[in-house]
Amino acid sequence: MVAPHNKFAEYKNLVNVHLENFLDRHASLVSATLPRSLYEPVRYAMEGNGKRIRPALVLMSCAAFGGALQKALPAAAAIELVHNFTLVHDDIMDHDDTRRGRPTVHRKWDTDTALLAGDALVAMAYQSLLQTESPHLNRICQIFTDGILKICEGQALDREFEHDDSVTPTRYEDMILKKTAWLLIMCAQMGAILGEANSAQIEHMGRFAEHVGLAFQIQDDLLDITIAQEILGKDFGSDVRRHKRTFLYVQALQHGEKSAQAALREIFMKPEIAQSDILSAQRIFSETGALAAAENAVREHLSQAHACLTELGPGVKTTELRDLIHLILHRNA
Ligand code: IPE
Ligand code: IPE
Ligand code: MG
Ligand code: MG
Ligand code: MG
Repeated sequence: MVAPHNKFAEYKNLVNVHLENFLDRHASLVSATLPRSLYEPVRYAMEGNGKRIRPALVLMSCAAFGGALQKALPAAAAIELVHNFTLVHDDIMDHDDTRRGRPTVHRKWDTDTALLAGDALVAMAYQSLLQTESPHLNRICQIFTDGILKICEGQALDREFEHDDSVTPTRYEDMILKKTAWLLIMCAQMGAILGEANSAQIEHMGRFAEHVGLAFQIQDDLLDITIAQEILGKDFGSDVRRHKRTFLYVQALQHGEKSAQAALREIFMKPEIAQSDILSAQRIFSETGALAAAENAVREHLSQAHACLTELGPGVKTTELRDLIHLILHRNA
């Protein structure tokens, strides 16, 4: 049997080569693509050890229905460009210093530079998407555009929740559906459309990616407070520091003892959260069973994702998509 990560590594490589060529054409620092204050941070944002999960998902979704990978590469690159736009702006909003083990764009340069680099990444994403040769380009552009707006809605909710004491598990799930899962839904559906899947299959692919995306963000919440910064490559405990209503917070308030709830609320009431508060929150998440609940929720969503793939029927090649689930389940960055 082929090791699970082999295909993924191959797709990641395809995407990186394509992106490198694209950036050389559209954001070259050696030829006349100017100004450098725009294109240097653009290139920097696209570099680093990004996992490239989303563009790989576009390619895998296309390949599952027998579509040619080359046909899906411009759309896959467009997705990664948009993803990096969201990261650059997200790091400003979350006041984070580190991403992919390096300074965030607004720390390496400044906030104005990062805002503009993010804006440019969106425009470049459309440049790439419009290179797609398909009779379905209009529909794909629609999914892409509606999806970007959904992500903005999710990010807005994420910020609103920082000051909201009544975030329920349902409202939390709606927020992460928009801020994180939606981009994966876009990947799966765009890939499936390019692979000429039928409408029922496109629907199933959307539901598959929804579960993968929800699992991905719950796991991201978990990694934020359980994995050392050197491994994660992002600020440790950033969510608590920014008063984020994560899966862990919502869970601890739903199922924790009264004293644990009070202690957690007290931490989150502080305008400035210290490192010791982050460690206290970590202990509360552990003692209330919130960490374990998050691990269970990740597993549950990923098993639902498997079930959605099964519904696609025997003609669809789902092995790579199942390997991607495996890879996500075992990630620590
Ligand atoms: C980070 O995504 C943003 C979230 C939705 C949690 P990734 O963990 O896929 O980031 P990179 O692209 O691999 O750095
Ligand atoms: C990520 O949420 C959502 C988007 C970037 C749209 P987070 O704020 O948790 O992502 P990380 O942890 O900074 O990567
Ligand atoms: Mg963030
Ligand atoms: Mg954020
Ligand atoms: Mg996070």
